[in-house]
Amino acid sequence: MNLTRFLLLVLLCLGVFTHGFSKKIARPASVQIGAIFTFDSTIGRVAKMAIDEAVKDVNSYSGILNGTKLSMTMQNSNCNGFLGTVEALRFMETDIIAIIGPQSSVVAHIISHVANELQVPLLSFAATDPTLSSLQFPFFVRTTQSDLYQMTAVAEIVDYYGWKEVIAIFVDDDYGRNGVSALDDKLAERRCRISNKVGIPPGPGVHRSDIMDLLVKVRLMESRIIVLHVNPDSGFTVFSVAHYLRMVGNGYVWIATDWLSSVLDSASPLPSEIKNSMQGVLVLRHHTPDSDRKRAFFSRWNKLTGGSLGLHSYGLYAYDSVWLVAHAIDAFFNQGGVISFSNYSRTPAGGGDLNLEAMSIFDDGSLLLKNILRSDFVGLTGPIKFNSDRSLIFPAYDIINVLGTGFQRIGYWSNYSGLSIVPPETLYARPPNCSSANQQLNSVIWPGETLSKPRGWVFPNNGKHLRIGVPIPVSFHEFVSQVQATDMFKGFCIDVFVAAVNLLPYAVPFRFVPFGDGHKNPSYTELVNLVTTGSFDAAVGDFAIITNRTKVVDFTQPYAASGLVIVAPFKKMNSGAWAFLRPFSPFMWIVTACFFLVIGVVVWILEHRINDEFRGPPKQQLITILWFSFSTLFFAHRENTLSTLGRLVLLIWLFVVLIINSSYTASLTSILTVQQLYSPIKGIDSLKASDEPIGHQEGSFAEQYLSEELGISKSRLVSLRSPEEYAKALELGPKKGGVAAVVDERPYIELFLSTQCSFGVVGHEFTKSGWGFAFPRDSPLAIDMSTAILQLSENGELQRIHDKWLIKGTCGLDNAELESDQLQLSSFWGLFLVCGVTCFVALFIYFLQIMYQLWHSTPSETVSNGLGSSFYGRLQRFLSLIDEKEDLSSSKSKKRKAEKSLSDIEKEAELGR
Ligand SMILES: *[C@@H]1O[C@H](CO)[C@@H](O)[C@H](O)[C@H]1NC(C)=O
Ligand SMILES: *[C@@H]1O[C@H](CO)[C@@H](O)[C@H](O)[C@H]1NC(C)=O
Ligand SMILES: *[C@@H]1O[C@H](CO)[C@@H](O)[C@H](O)[C@H]1NC(C)=O
Ligand SMILES: *[C@@H]1O[C@H](CO)[C@@H](O)[C@H](O)[C@H]1NC(C)=O
Ligand SMILES: *[C@@H]1O[C@H](CO)[C@@H](O)[C@H](O)[C@H]1NC(C)=O
Repeated sequence: MNLTRFLLLVLLCLGVFTHGFSKKIARPASVQIGAIFTFDSTIGRVAKMAIDEAVKDVNSYSGILNGTKLSMTMQNSNCNGFLGTVEALRFMETDIIAIIGPQSSVVAHIISHVANELQVPLLSFAATDPTLSSLQFPFFVRTTQSDLYQMTAVAEIVDYYGWKEVIAIFVDDDYGRNGVSALDDKLAERRCRISNKVGIPPGPGVHRSDIMDLLVKVRLMESRIIVLHVNPDSGFTVFSVAHYLRMVGNGYVWIATDWLSSVLDSASPLPSEIKNSMQGVLVLRHHTPDSDRKRAFFSRWNKLTGGSLGLHSYGLYAYDSVWLVAHAIDAFFNQGGVISFSNYSRTPAGGGDLNLEAMSIFDDGSLLLKNILRSDFVGLTGPIKFNSDRSLIFPAYDIINVLGTGFQRIGYWSNYSGLSIVPPETLYARPPNCSSANQQLNSVIWPGETLSKPRGWVFPNNGKHLRIGVPIPVSFHEFVSQVQATDMFKGFCIDVFVAAVNLLPYAVPFRFVPFGDGHKNPSYTELVNLVTTGSFDAAVGDFAIITNRTKVVDFTQPYAASGLVIVAPFKKMNSGAWAFLRPFSPFMWIVTACFFLVIGVVVWILEHRINDEFRGPPKQQLITILWFSFSTLFFAHRENTLSTLGRLVLLIWLFVVLIINSSYTASLTSILTVQQLYSPIKGIDSLKASDEPIGHQEGSFAEQYLSEELGISKSRLVSLRSPEEYAKALELGPKKGGVAAVVDERPYIELFLSTQCSFGVVGHEFTKSGWGFAFPRDSPLAIDMSTAILQLSENGELQRIHDKWLIKGTCGLDNAELESDQLQLSSFWGLFLVCGVTCFVALFIYFLQIMYQLWHSTPSETVSNGLGSSFYGRLQRFLSLIDEKEDLSSSKSKKRKAEKSLSDIEKEAELGR
């Protein structure tokens, strides 16, 4: 068979088959879909026209639905409440297979339940409540962006500008409440928060006076960042009242969600007093990418409305929703879907008059829903596609700034890359980059026509002063104290605080509140906890910044260094007679002495054979060794060294002696002139190891530190109250019921020692910390106070305040510090090593020479001794060689004489011939 004919046949068969198939499930001439929204609303007015246009476009486009017409029924619904729901329910009794709407999140919540039962997909182009996406409502499809993303954008803006707290004003229904709750979550992810939530009653019956009451309260709050998430009806009233209260002015930031942008986009120029009340406001708007189709639609729209009604993003979403349904129905038919309904049979017992049987279930609803969620086409709002969470992909917002009579776009936010000044579409090709370096927005003209970013918070302008807790200690009044019988306070900490507050760029009204009765040191931990619970707005005093406290409050930068130190009584050196021994540690002394002896012996061995000065009777030799080695100490040895090895050893040794000598001299000088004090406690380790009682300040964290961190038993810790008690306890000493040492923070000890010369700090600071002022968590004041404290420290003011209060007596801290400064062997072991190695090498070479001589000595001598080659004989020979006097000069002359006589004989012989 010829190939073309075969192919034709196959094609024919296929044609017949497909013809038969499509005949089997003929598409209906039209399908019924419904739309339900509020015609007379900002969104509804535009949506109505957009939906009409979309239906027209779908029906006139042959590429879709293939002849089946969409037939749209629209139902005007009340925006919220019971009536809206009832109208929606009545609407659903008719046989429609999909509903565009509802517009309101409140109605959507209720009729989503019904849609689930009847299996009619709801495609809402305007219900943005994030909770509608939940799995509870499978038949609810959102064809616009969830407010979850809008709130993420708001949170990122707040974070981008470095604000920490916002006030949310919202309409108190599902839409507002759930939107704000999403905002709360998103702010929390960025360590920001909503400080106050202000709900406005939903519905049109909100009075201007109610809003006035709310805003007056808002004005007294600390935060100046206001997020407005309401409906257009109440939104404009809020702005108008806020403007009247001068709250859309300097220092304030208003961020309005997309309710405002839809009004701005759709309304023909707003009345100028409304515009005036919104200058500098930031607004979010759904971002829809630019396209030819979108531009064409806009110009068609303008022709249609004559410019009386602008098109906003919700209108575009409504238009796309109709196309979405059309695409899905087309696919539904292609997959063999059939439009059929069955009566609702699950009537509850005693059904009453609800007439639920009238409702009909769309049998193939799930198939249509599946096709809706699977759709993938490009609409006016960009790509229409759902991700696995059933939300539209690529959520993005424009951020606009209301300015003059219009507005200006200052940037974009996209879920993909955060804030940017380039349209998000251009970013989708690149890898997502949400790094903070990549986030940027153009400059904003803030309310009050200023370019400088508002600080975002103020002191609650409610006539209240900050209540500042001040601990009243029993002693150490230089740090904090209350002036007798007044409510004035003085002291180092108070002065630092006041100086820092004066540096702040704004006024901070405050009042000190004493904490503690003055008879017992107050618990600092308790005071810090009171700051956490809000009883105090801050705590000022000598608060060490320690881990436990930073867990509950925020500290400023430290204004004083305060490590823990040990103070102990110093004993005057009474071993003056033996002071000369102290420069070296005992071990050092022993090693040095040993080396003197070793060097004496080594030099003796090396010199003994050739040097007459090292010879003689054993007793005299012993004296020579000792005399020689110890006289090197003063470089006064008189014996000459003749051998090379001996000279080498002596040279190295004299160098070592030089170093030891000069170190000793230096150390002794310092001991005799500077250091006259001494303490048996050398540092925290020796204190810990002893069993003696340790004092600490009452109520100080030192107690916990010593017992918990260092494991010192509580029974050894003695709580002391005042410098006088410190002095008394230290003087008594551990044996008579006092303490061996006191552990306290450095500033107290500095003060204590400035009047007490007989005590001193031993060892080093064993903790490093500082004192700071405590503020509640995330308090913006703490950050500004830190900056002020650093400023104080840099301009020297801090030191001046310190000197004013804390420099008193003449006993300085520095010259009293005592450390064990004996010279240890460890500082010298290198020298000794070099010297030892030299000795060893010299001896080794020397003995090699001896051995050489031993093996090459004349055998006759050995034989004549009668000892043969026995080991003993060799040893004896070895020892005698060592002891033997070797006269180098004489043996050489003998040799020379022998050679001479030999040559004489030869000469004579020659002469004789
Ligand atoms: C559209 O329907 C007509 C008949 O109603 C049929 O001939 C044609 O093949 C269909 N086209 C498609 C793409 O289904
Ligand atoms: C559905 O109910 C209507 C009246 O409510 C009735 O006329 C119709 O026959 C019922 N259909 C089925 C399939 O039960
Ligand atoms: C938004 O971004 C998050 C994290 O990058 C991602 O998990 C989520 O799917 C995105 N949402 C959409 C609708 O693209
Ligand atoms: C993100 O953007 C910043 C600044 O534009 C750039 O420095 C950084 O390398 C980018 N990170 C990635 C992962 O592309
Ligand atoms: C820290 O706090 C915990 C519990 O609040 C307490 O048990 C512990 O003793 C504290 N430690 C110090 C050093 O304050």
